Amino acid sequence: MRRVLLLSLLAAAALLAGAWATLAPPSTRPPLATLPAVPVPAGNPMSEEKIRLGRMLFFDPRLSGDSSTSCASCHVPQLGWTHNDALARGYPGHRLWRNNPTVLNAAHYTRLMWDGTLDSLEIQARSAMQAPVEGNGKASMVEMRLRFIPEYVALFRQVFGDEWPQLDHAWQAIAAFERTLVSDPRQVPFDRHLAGDAAALSEPARRGLALFEGKAGCIQCHHGALATDEGFHALGVPRQPLYDSHPLVQIAVRWQNVQRDVPQAVYRGLEEDLGRYYRTREPADIGKFRTPTLRELKYTAPYMHNGAFATLREVVDFFDAGGGSVPNKSPLLKPLGLSEDEKNDLVAFLEALSMERPLLMEAPVLPPTLPLDGSGEQCEQPVQGRI
Ligand code: HEC
Ligand code: HEC
Repeated sequence: MRRVLLLSLLAAAALLAGAWATLAPPSTRPPLATLPAVPVPAGNPMSEEKIRLGRMLFFDPRLSGDSSTSCASCHVPQLGWTHNDALARGYPGHRLWRNNPTVLNAAHYTRLMWDGTLDSLEIQARSAMQAPVEGNGKASMVEMRLRFIPEYVALFRQVFGDEWPQLDHAWQAIAAFERTLVSDPRQVPFDRHLAGDAAALSEPARRGLALFEGKAGCIQCHHGALATDEGFHALGVPRQPLYDSHPLVQIAVRWQNVQRDVPQAVYRGLEEDLGRYYRTREPADIGKFRTPTLRELKYTAPYMHNGAFATLREVVDFFDAGGGSVPNKSPLLKPLGLSEDEKNDLVAFLEALSMERPLLMEAPVLPPTLPLDGSGEQCEQPVQGRI
């Protein structure tokens, strides 16, 4: 009750401030499209060797504090480059408070994370490995570790001209690798349909596309090549039960709020993920999250910022009911009155935005840690990070 009251007050304040988001009118909306070539920042050009180094580092748990956790521990190739936990695991002893998104096609976003707080893959990689609850890797120690891995020393020298591996270059190499993790349009039925293959979409998927762009109104927020406006909306996704039942999750939620200097009066009453509010401090942004891409959903369940839904059908049922109930709820969500067949058609269309086969990748063999002169004993050899 207190929570609802507080949210209502905050929402009323926001209304007075006239802070409602404005949406692109239909005429200026980019249509659903095939992904263009991946954007590459001028400061981090791609090369084959850089990508090879980035791939090794992505899988290397020695970037984390206790050498247990790599990027691939949470972004697992066999699990759609994400994880099937509703809320992501954290560094040992921690739980995270959000569902982890896939890194597939993440290179196409201009705003990263559920609340859009980060702008580049390079910065994201650094923050993932250094945050106490994720990689917990102390920069100076991790950099020293890299310097005792002769194969990395040679590769950093070749790729970046480093005398000794520089950690900032590790994040650049990882980002370059991530820029190769994109959908192959030849394998995506919807992209083949756009390319003129009349048989690419099944009948249900065709009907689903018409609903998506018409009666169901999904296109209002899910448009363009990634099927997202990269805007922020509150849908009223149900509360994640682990927020109330799991002590480590409760600690995570409260810590994230304290960490971000949210006034006690706000977070104490809610014990919630406030979403876009963290970036803007506008009460109108409480509970808003970045619209995610709808590509590769077949492989990335569960869904939503808090993993509240296990299947695409549950997501469609949620939108059919007009979303949940929160004070800042998007005015675009209304009960849709979809029939069972129409719901199945929408799911068929969503599935047609995924590759027919998942993008799998073997973990690379990780190079050993050795004394600097290359002689003598090897360290305990790197094992793949836990998943
Ligand atoms: C302990 C689990 C964990 C580890 C380890 C981890 N991630 Fe993540 N990753 C997450 C979670 C959870 C999020 C979403 C967090 C948020 O929105 O606040 C995320 C978000 C991302 C995103 C943004 C995707 C999007 O849709 O905006 C990228 C890219 C990413 N991670 C790459 C990496 C890389 C690269 C590494 C290693 C350097 C890494 N992650 C390590 C759990 C993890
Ligand atoms: C008002 C804008 C808006 C509309 C309209 C909308 N969505 Fe979304 N969609 C979002 C946002 C924002 C999220 C993330 C919400 C969250 O996690 O709290 C989302 C999440 C999703 C997800 C989960 C993706 C993932 O990776 O977790 C799916 C699937 C989805 N929407 C499909 C649809 C379908 C199908 C429709 C039409 C019936 C639709 N959306 C209409 C904004 C919208």
